[in-house]
Amino acid sequence: MLKTKIAVFVSGGGTNLQALIDAQKAGTLKSGEITLVLASNDTAYALTRAEQNQIPSVVVKRKEFATQLEYEEQLKAVLTEHNIDLIILAGFMSILSENFTAAYPKRIINIHPSLIPSFCGKGYYGLKVHEAALAYGVKVTGATVHYVNEIPDGGEILLQKAVAVEEGDTPEILQRRVMEQAEWILLPQAAEMVSQQLQKG
Ligand code: GRF
Repeated sequence: MLKTKIAVFVSGGGTNLQALIDAQKAGTLKSGEITLVLASNDTAYALTRAEQNQIPSVVVKRKEFATQLEYEEQLKAVLTEHNIDLIILAGFMSILSENFTAAYPKRIINIHPSLIPSFCGKGYYGLKVHEAALAYGVKVTGATVHYVNEIPDGGEILLQKAVAVEEGDTPEILQRRVMEQAEWILLPQAAEMVSQQLQKG
């Protein structure tokens, strides 16, 4: 049976990409296969992880395009060239406008390191999310996988998992716990779920 072709969009360390690669190897991600890693810069360690696992990768830099539209048309061209069915944003830091998201309805998912609708939307990414959670004093945080639309972190929620905030947590300690206990579990689960759904047409 043909597998759902997955492109993983990255910008940083790629620990979520690694979780997807590990799930594919373990057979828990079996309805889809990662056939492309697309990075927003050429220094992302995620590119090394792709190379180590023989996954084709491409770098598309926003600043090399005069407009957001031209940048997004290039993204679409690369995805078409690789026959991609599903896009997974994993620590991806570039803006995607409605011109792009509307072209892939229910075919883009994102992992956000909080329980949406808390600590999400414009300006909430990376450590900033955990700094806000600690500043607010929440006792529970977590991660969310959601469909991507034109509203930052606004698409339909697919999966969520709660993680306890502990005494003495720093943003770095909390980020690591949310990754280990939530992100790296939810994203492969969601990838398998949506890959299966896309096969049913
Ligand atoms: C992390 O802050 C993670 O919570 C979020 O993107 C950032 C980088 O993740 N999803 P990764 O290690 O590049 O997957």
